[in-house]
Amino acid sequence: PNSPQKMMMDGHELAAKLYHHVLTLTEEGSGGREYAKARAFQKEQLEHFQIGFAPNRWDSLKIIFEKREFNLDVMANAGLLGTRESDQGHYDRFRNRLMFPIWDGQGKVIAFGGRSIGDEKPKYLNSAETPIFHKSKTLYAIHLARPSIRKENAAILFEGYVDVVAAWGAGVKNGVATLGTALTEEQAKLLRRNAETVTLCYDSDRAGIEAAFRSAGILEQVGCHVKIALMPEGLDPDDFIRKFGADRFKTDVIGASLSLMAFKMRFLRKGKNLQDEGERLRYIEEVLTEIASLPRAVERDHYLRQVAEEFSLSLDALKQEQFQIYRAKK
Ligand code: UTP
Ligand code: MN
Ligand code: MN
Ligand code: MN
Ligand code: MN
Repeated sequence: PNSPQKMMMDGHELAAKLYHHVLTLTEEGSGGREYAKARAFQKEQLEHFQIGFAPNRWDSLKIIFEKREFNLDVMANAGLLGTRESDQGHYDRFRNRLMFPIWDGQGKVIAFGGRSIGDEKPKYLNSAETPIFHKSKTLYAIHLARPSIRKENAAILFEGYVDVVAAWGAGVKNGVATLGTALTEEQAKLLRRNAETVTLCYDSDRAGIEAAFRSAGILEQVGCHVKIALMPEGLDPDDFIRKFGADRFKTDVIGASLSLMAFKMRFLRKGKNLQDEGERLRYIEEVLTEIASLPRAVERDHYLRQVAEEFSLSLDALKQEQFQIYRAKK
């Protein structure tokens, strides 16, 4: 009568309840509570995101599934249990980890992300693809963030669920995240259906900046207005909030986010000495190329004027230069 999919969803709901109960109310959860405290997660965050803890045992979840007569092979296919090669017996796949439920768009738990609380590898263990969990179609916490996203007509996209949780604690409630993979077109469309503007708030490291460029392209293609939030080099949003606090995160990071073009301009001038004529001309040429690729004339005009003003050049000269670059490329 029950499809495997339905059984998998039920198994996830039960697991989420167990993990959350263990974290918040049991002795077995003390390691998880200490870790959550060290990361400055407050009670409200643990509740809102139903964060839990998988005990350091091989059979916590397994025993519960057995008691409730869940089919253990189905739970293994759902990614909650592992299967031993030797005797086909089952064991808990998530152990000794802080557990983040991952929901579908309606708020049903379909997967988990588990953060190790010590040095165990991998640092993050996430559910693999299953019949109910498709990473490329899922955005972490979209059902929780949706009211805020709609109200502000804007979403904030983070690299990790921990960053979403930290931002929410800082009062930024329209955050979602991809799940350890690059942004897909499907996820971008999902965002576009809920908001016009998407602010990328990725880690301030090389990987994060490269990912931001990639994601920005995909988001623009589906019609989003893209902004980029910047942080001091080496920090991610969670680090920033812990180091500088909620107010500075809201004003200096989210509030000060740049348009994609402004971000590109900043990126292009990095490491160039604009007092040097050759480097300055190279910068101008690169910026003109970027501006030429903008789809809207009013936008092109806006940035051309900005460049003209900064370098005391005439708009006409810039337009001619742009035309020549364009011809040279053809
Ligand atoms: P990071 O590699 O930036 O994590 O991955 P981090 O910020 O250093 O982790 P903490 O702060 O020490 O806990 C960013 C996000 O990408 C996802 C996780 O959601 C993580 O929060 N991720 C990363 C995975 O899902 N799997 C991985 O193997 C790595
Ligand atoms: Mn609770
Ligand atoms: Mn990172
Ligand atoms: Mn990070
Ligand atoms: Mn981090």
